[in-house]
Amino acid sequence: MCGIVGYVGHRPALDVVISGLRRLEYRGYDSAGVALAIDGELWTEKRAGKLANLEAAVAEAAPPPPPATTGIGHTRWATHGGPTDRNAHPHVSSDGAVAIIHNGIIENFAELREELAREGIELLSETDTEVAAHLVALELPRCAGDLAEAMRRVCRRLNGAFTLVAVDASRPDVVVGARRNSPLVVGVGEGESFLASDVAAFIEFTRDAIELGQDQVVEVRREGVEVTDFDGNPAEVTPFTVDWDASAAEKGGYDLFMLKEIAEQPKAVADTLRGRIERDGTLRLDDMRITPAELREIDKIVVVACGTAYHAGMVAKYAIEHWTRIPVECELASEFRYRDPIIHPRTLVIAISQSGETMDTLMALRYAREQGARVLAICNTVGSTIPRESDAVLYTYAGPEIAVASTKAFLTQIVAAYLVGLYLAQVRGNKFGDEVRQILDELEEMPAKVDLVLDTVEGVRKIARELADSPSVLFIGRHVGYPVALEGALKLKELAYMHAEGFAAGELKHGPIALIEEGMPVVVIVPSPRGRSVLHDKIVSNVQEVRARGARTIVVAEEGDESVVPYADHIVRVPPCPTLMQPLVSTVPLQVFACEMATAKGHDVDQPRNLAKSVTVE
Ligand code: M6R
Repeated sequence: MCGIVGYVGHRPALDVVISGLRRLEYRGYDSAGVALAIDGELWTEKRAGKLANLEAAVAEAAPPPPPATTGIGHTRWATHGGPTDRNAHPHVSSDGAVAIIHNGIIENFAELREELAREGIELLSETDTEVAAHLVALELPRCAGDLAEAMRRVCRRLNGAFTLVAVDASRPDVVVGARRNSPLVVGVGEGESFLASDVAAFIEFTRDAIELGQDQVVEVRREGVEVTDFDGNPAEVTPFTVDWDASAAEKGGYDLFMLKEIAEQPKAVADTLRGRIERDGTLRLDDMRITPAELREIDKIVVVACGTAYHAGMVAKYAIEHWTRIPVECELASEFRYRDPIIHPRTLVIAISQSGETMDTLMALRYAREQGARVLAICNTVGSTIPRESDAVLYTYAGPEIAVASTKAFLTQIVAAYLVGLYLAQVRGNKFGDEVRQILDELEEMPAKVDLVLDTVEGVRKIARELADSPSVLFIGRHVGYPVALEGALKLKELAYMHAEGFAAGELKHGPIALIEEGMPVVVIVPSPRGRSVLHDKIVSNVQEVRARGARTIVVAEEGDESVVPYADHIVRVPPCPTLMQPLVSTVPLQVFACEMATAKGHDVDQPRNLAKSVTVE
């Protein structure tokens, strides 16, 4: 939550910062602001609302922005204080010396605010951030104007989660950042340096980046970077190279990032499989730093994740239990550590997160490690906190996901979790090599099948437009179709702002069927009629039950499954595939459905209200 950019170099800082904010706007869009440091002065501009408001204000500013080559910028997802101009970042100290931007929550801000009041400093905003600006400015003269040292002294006094980035009017050759429990990466260019919440902000200028660790302060200048811990001791850092380029974070001819990301799914699935399957069918998971011997000792798996990633974990539970016979629990990360879960050194915790920064998931994995569990991250973002704090990581190679609603992340998280399940089955001997090979073959066929679905979604768009005025939509499924139903409902809630709920189809008769009234759309995920046909037959009965009560049914069913046709008001076809593979095709029409409905309602699909892409507060 919140996007942060800092720049020092040889280019016009305003342009670099605004272009960085444009790429980070998906992290929060309640307000935006910039501060430039030049010739002993700070120039700031900030505005409530989207970045476009700030850009308009900058264009009309009097005096106009100076030609500074050092600056910081922020896009906000509001926590303390409403989304107003006054609460927008940067916040400037009362002496005008220091401008600061922040992502996170400073938990002891009330007490610090009182301390500042006693010093006669009146705060102008309702934010927790502003205290940090005044505290850094108060420290500066006490440490000979050393901004990094002032930042360290202040950070030692702060509780909570924070990334802070500051500039000092009198030292326009330096930008200082600090992080605890919130993301911050460094970009290293030729004669220029960057700080940002994620690499997308500076990818057009450099792909050389540095991961920062927990409780570190970084001072960036044109010529280089210096990192210490909060006590001033030199800190070890991990350089990395970003393996995608700026075009991956552009719309590439699509009207919406979400449409582009839906279309990228065949490639994302293929990339997540690539290089991990040997010719003889054995799996090689390079970053699996947990040894086969340790994996053979595992007697329980707990998946922790949030939102869409949680639904991917629910799908994975069916597959991993089936293949390995290890019990799998799937937990909402935000609930996990508060219920005294039974975790021990033979528990494998799988933390699934696209961003690698979701605070609820991070806190769950830290708790699990404290209890002695081994933690494996499934993550899409190299250099992020969750993989760094895990024992092992399996990256999904989905490329940057910019639309707030997850699409390609979901499919690749399922694929990665399946690879973990098959790897466990392989090292523990639960399955013969040829059985694992056969499932891997099925997985390798999925990119082409997802492509087929993409070719046939026009009909889904039409249905979505027809149903756009419905007050409510229900989704039902069984087995892996149940988490798909939950995911379909989540997409509709977050994009179309309408009531939508997913149910296990068998649960309807235990209560929710009372919701059905004449004309209510019910989306039904029908499993393959082959193999587990009991499952199929049961859901065919459920479609009839809702239809008998007036529901308008939208049935997602395999090509060639004619048994559902009499009960379908609308039918959406997906290619035949084994039950466990079906989520990879049946989710796609639901993504398109939500996207089209939101478009029909005139909503901002890529940046839905009240949300942010990366949720870095609890
Ligand atoms: O970055 P993460 O995968 O940890 O994010 C978890 C959820 O916030 C996320 O999946 C969210 O539910 C989706 N953006 C919804 O589409």
